[in-house]
Amino acid sequence: MKGVVLAGGLGSRLYPLTKITNKHLLPVFDKPMIYYPIQCLVNAGITDILVVTGGNSAGHFLQLLRNGSDFGLQRLHYAYQEGEGGIADALKLAESFAEGDGVCVVLGDNIIQGNIKKAVTDFAGQGGGAKILLKEVADPERFGVATVKNGVVQKIVEKPKTPETNLAVIGIYLYDAAVFDICRTLKPSSRGELEITDVNNEYLRRGTLTCEVLKGWWTDAGTFESLYRSATLVREGGANRMDV
Ligand code: DAU
Repeated sequence: MKGVVLAGGLGSRLYPLTKITNKHLLPVFDKPMIYYPIQCLVNAGITDILVVTGGNSAGHFLQLLRNGSDFGLQRLHYAYQEGEGGIADALKLAESFAEGDGVCVVLGDNIIQGNIKKAVTDFAGQGGGAKILLKEVADPERFGVATVKNGVVQKIVEKPKTPETNLAVIGIYLYDAAVFDICRTLKPSSRGELEITDVNNEYLRRGTLTCEVLKGWWTDAGTFESLYRSATLVREGGANRMDV
């Protein structure tokens, strides 16, 4: 299994913080935001990692992360996303890196208290398809929202105005190599992006999508409120813990 951190996009919800730098280089308490998703993969035993970024400060990722020695890695891989075509558009750039393996995709602005070791092990045992991770939230309308019956996903809606449940689909996804064929079939959504929710719904249609509820807290850090909240959560309890 290979790891992919998606750190492209404009970060427009954090403007003007993101006027001259990339969102994922902003601090979350004592580390740059991008450190958390990379550590999440490393803690799950995934050490072959691609960082996808874009924009004008892409070079700063190389200066900051270098070969990944802060995470005990020998090397990191990098890809550049032209434009901001969406999460699934950024994921397309991982196809040659994956070399037919499955991928664990982590959004660059997602931070968790615990670890995804169990989910990765469970996914390895399910023989392909995809796995999504869910978390109960107070503001589901900001996220992909899953309807689940007896542990089985029934549907996922991206940012619904009136969510059916409070189960957010968090930005950590496990996919087999079919994900790249699926990405090729996608059409841009009303916000002009290739949506990861459309990828997940295609796995659902194929009957190969599983889900787990994440233990410990989860947050994104892509708005002023969630950036502030994530710094507080990290400060109070630490992130990427192995004991959660
Ligand atoms: O945080 C989880 C949520 O992330 C999910 O619940 C949603 O289903 C999913 O669509 C996504 O929602 P957002 O609207 O919050 O995603 P955002 O546009 O903020 O992008 C999240 C990360 O994805 C961002 O930090 C970097 C990466 N990204 C995004 C875009 C649009 C890219 O690498 N390239 C892109 O073009």
